[in-house]
Amino acid sequence: MNRNEVMNVLNFRHACKEFDKEKKIATEDVEVILEAGRLSPSSLGIEPWKFLVIENEELKDELGAVCWGGKTQMPTCSHLIVVLSRKAKELRYDSSYTNHILKDVKKLPEEAALKFKSLMKTLEEERYKDDKDIEAYASNQVYIAVGNMMTAAAMLGIDSCAIGGIDKATVEKMLIDKGVLDTEKFNISLCLAFGYRVKEAGEKLRQEMSEIVTWMK
Ligand SMILES: Cc1cc2nc3c(=O)[nH]c(=O)nc-3n(C[C@H](O)[C@H](O)[C@H](O)COP(=O)(O)O)c2cc1C
Repeated sequence: MNRNEVMNVLNFRHACKEFDKEKKIATEDVEVILEAGRLSPSSLGIEPWKFLVIENEELKDELGAVCWGGKTQMPTCSHLIVVLSRKAKELRYDSSYTNHILKDVKKLPEEAALKFKSLMKTLEEERYKDDKDIEAYASNQVYIAVGNMMTAAAMLGIDSCAIGGIDKATVEKMLIDKGVLDTEKFNISLCLAFGYRVKEAGEKLRQEMSEIVTWMK
């Protein structure tokens, strides 16, 4: 990809407020968007995310009715992804999830895994004593995946909208009732709507580069 192509992708992505209900995203494209999430970097490689992919029209409508930030986006999008973030007890150095990541995902030998856990233990004692600190840090990682997913979608010519304006308690209850959310393990971070725009995006409004960047040469 050359510079112009990169800039075109970045300018193409906007917070799409309404999608074409008739246009569905190909499953193969949704899979690439999910790969962009899965392959994202995370602190210590702990991958604190999970993605619930909703295609069901009724459920998208129900969610749109209770989420002020996604009233038009949720019912009209092709795919709605509820992005989850692991809870603190899942992410502690001695949890079974951490053991799974170290042993089955990173494939660390016993000794290396012990060293890794000792580093995590020190971090927990020094920087992340409170559950809310761990969860805020995990949520930061999740937002990296979210950014990558929206950029990957834009590369495929797919529109998106991040939706933080959700009533978390109500959405949580709806997803528990559907049997797809384990609140022992996960918090809801935000939703991501994907589809195809019905109208052209407005002008991109941003601060000037000089306002946000300082170069030190
Ligand atoms: C974490 C996050 C939460 C957001 N929540 C909402 C939302 O609830 N509803 C909405 O319409 N847009 C939402 N947005 C979109 C922003 O308003 C939008 O990205 C911003 O105004 C810049 O516009 P642009 O994305 O079109 O360039 C959210 C964006 C982010 C990153």
